[in-house]
Amino acid sequence: MRVPQHTLSCFAAMRILAIESSCDETAASVVEDGIHVRSNCIASAQKVFEKSGGVIPEDAARRQLQCILPVLHQALDDANIQPTDLDALAVTHGPGLLGSLLIGTTTARVLSRLWHLPLIGVHHTMGHLSSTWLEGVIEDPPLFPLLTLSASGGHTDLWLRESHTRGTLLGRTRDDAAGEAFDKGASMLGLPYPGGPAIASSALQGNPHAFPFPLPLSTKEDTLDFSFSGLKNALRLTLQACTSPLPVADLAASFEHAICSHLTDRILRAIKRYPQVREVHLVGGVSANTHLRSHLKDSVPSVRLRTPARLSYCTDNAAMIAAAATFMMLETPETAIAPFLTTASLPLEAVGSDA
Ligand code: KG4
Ligand code: ZN
Repeated sequence: MRVPQHTLSCFAAMRILAIESSCDETAASVVEDGIHVRSNCIASAQKVFEKSGGVIPEDAARRQLQCILPVLHQALDDANIQPTDLDALAVTHGPGLLGSLLIGTTTARVLSRLWHLPLIGVHHTMGHLSSTWLEGVIEDPPLFPLLTLSASGGHTDLWLRESHTRGTLLGRTRDDAAGEAFDKGASMLGLPYPGGPAIASSALQGNPHAFPFPLPLSTKEDTLDFSFSGLKNALRLTLQACTSPLPVADLAASFEHAICSHLTDRILRAIKRYPQVREVHLVGGVSANTHLRSHLKDSVPSVRLRTPARLSYCTDNAAMIAAAATFMMLETPETAIAPFLTTASLPLEAVGSDA
């Protein structure tokens, strides 16, 4: 396999086909050099789980099985390439729903044998951390050291990163993830799953200051950790005190504002503590939130803020897994292609943290 040089601009073309199947999306993508997206296919089961208010693991795995081969065919067709044009395969090997993950990793292992291609196992979070490189960064590549807030339905982590694979985990959630808070809050407000987009769209009609929810972990400690369970309780108590008809838009706007203020507050603290930081990156499903983006931009005008180039690179996708695999090959080629286990809980340390 060709291993590219250390800078993005002198990459030899490295073409990776990646699979991401950690939850309710079945995704496959072909990416060149970790940045050029040749195809990005996603079959989402979100509509199926809209009514149930959340993902049912057995149903998600069954959907993965139905979708994986058509999505892979589509990814190769859209990229207009043959398996012989590929340099490697990559797959998310954790964390996530075990049944869903196994569909992706088993398929990738079979294809790796069949097509005689190396296989790179990627931590799901490492994928999100790499998503800001997708598309259009050749002239303007991100500069390390940088801060990345990765906030999705399963995790909320703040990283100080020295390179793609080296970094320090500065803070993580002590209870719910930010996306989980959106999902649970939406369910309390009678809004559909996934809750983030539902709350964001209802919030457009509401007043973010109508209900002043408390800022979590704000006074007591000098921590960069997150906590969302108090906000969830505050919403529950506020709902109990409300009379009918419920002011859903005001509640959604205030709850969204409280989550965004907490996330922004941690980033501000981290920038103060690490003045060497050159950029702030916002990744994961919650990074699609426009209120969070504008709130952060207004709060940190002096530091460059980057979000994934498309909304489809914020939420789960396989292009970010291909990008991560490329950077792993670039920085740690021996460990990148080492055998891996498929596992529902994969510690963040496996991402390359020295925390
Ligand atoms: O990264 P992702 O697709 O999957 C996980 O790794 O969990 O993130 C999904 C999460 C869900 O909790 C969803 O409610 C949230 O991201 N989300 C949003 C928005 N779009 C998706 N949260 C806030 N605002 C959005 N626009
Ligand atoms: Zn994710």
